[in-house]
Amino acid sequence: MTAVPRLLLLGASGRLGQALHEAWTRTDAGVELIAPSHARLDVLDPTALHATIAATRPTAIVNTIAISDVDRCEVDPDAATRFNVAYPRELARAAAAQGAWLVHFSSDYVFDGRRGGDGPPYVESDATLPLSRYGRSKLDGELAIAEACERHLVWRVSWLYGSRQRNLAQHLLEPAHAGTTVRLDGERVGVPNPVSLLADHIAGALAAVLVDGDTRRAGIYHLSCHGRTTWLDFARRFLDQATALGLLTSDRLPLLRPTGPDEAARPAPRPAYSALDTSRFERTFGASMPAWEEALDGWLAARARQRRA
Ligand SMILES: NC(=O)c1ccc[n+]([C@@H]2O[C@H](COP(=O)([O-])OP(=O)(O)OC[C@H]3O[C@@H](n4cnc5c(N)ncnc54)[C@H](OP(=O)(O)O)[C@@H]3O)[C@@H](O)[C@H]2O)c1
Repeated sequence: MTAVPRLLLLGASGRLGQALHEAWTRTDAGVELIAPSHARLDVLDPTALHATIAATRPTAIVNTIAISDVDRCEVDPDAATRFNVAYPRELARAAAAQGAWLVHFSSDYVFDGRRGGDGPPYVESDATLPLSRYGRSKLDGELAIAEACERHLVWRVSWLYGSRQRNLAQHLLEPAHAGTTVRLDGERVGVPNPVSLLADHIAGALAAVLVDGDTRRAGIYHLSCHGRTTWLDFARRFLDQATALGLLTSDRLPLLRPTGPDEAARPAPRPAYSALDTSRFERTFGASMPAWEEALDGWLAARARQRRA
């Protein structure tokens, strides 16, 4: 009998971590899931980290822990290096020693976005040039992992919505926000993705490499819906669709406005364009990602079904 894969999920209370936890527990995914909370394991304590890995002997380690707050990284580069570079390096060494796969996350912020909104989406082999300390730390984390652990899947992901934590989708659906002004960026171009969709694809890809063990599928992948938009246009479609599905009523909507230059001023520079080309992932794992509009419609339709149930 083949042994059931044992997954050590680090960061299960975070945006992606929670979605992954749900992907593996919603159905009988055929894995044993171990997900220590932050209170039980501080991953910056190497002794505790190594003891947990030695005790659990995972088939794969799935790491969602990072500093994903872009502005915090800009003002605290030491913390960015500790969380986004040194810790993943330590984890990669531990995974390699254990013979485990390591699943990790990076970001569209490794690119400078200067090719402009009409340019093609970025592929994995495009030249990286992070504008921010966050982007630099995520890139250095990728390099540290590739060097230390051959069996790695590093997912570059971009704009997220639909987590249980505070996020734009939840904000727009909140009845208390009816009639309030929501200011959103109408300039930067990228691709919004529902976290649950990404989590399902990551769970599927990990299952595939755990079955065949093929290290030729190791590496960096861009995981994204297709297309491109701005957060402002995303929110416009969101309100239209949510109204059509009865999740909101047309006379009680938030008012969408573009952010002004003062609100747009933040410590860290962001790439003006960061659409990611996901075809390497689709080819390698036989998957098909939807356009962002289709993913949004599906996500809202699922909310409407939940509400009716
Ligand atoms: N969010 C985005 O828009 C976005 C976009 C592109 C890429 N990414 C990447 O995706 C990955 C996941 O991001 P996310 O936004 O899902 O993360 P997140 O919501 O900020 O979650 C971070 C997780 O790390 C845990 N944690 C923090 N410090 C810890 C420590 N010392 N020991 C143990 N646990 C600790 C947190 O637990 P507590 O809450 O209990 O402290 C939480 O579960 C990151 O690599 C990020 O760079 C994110």
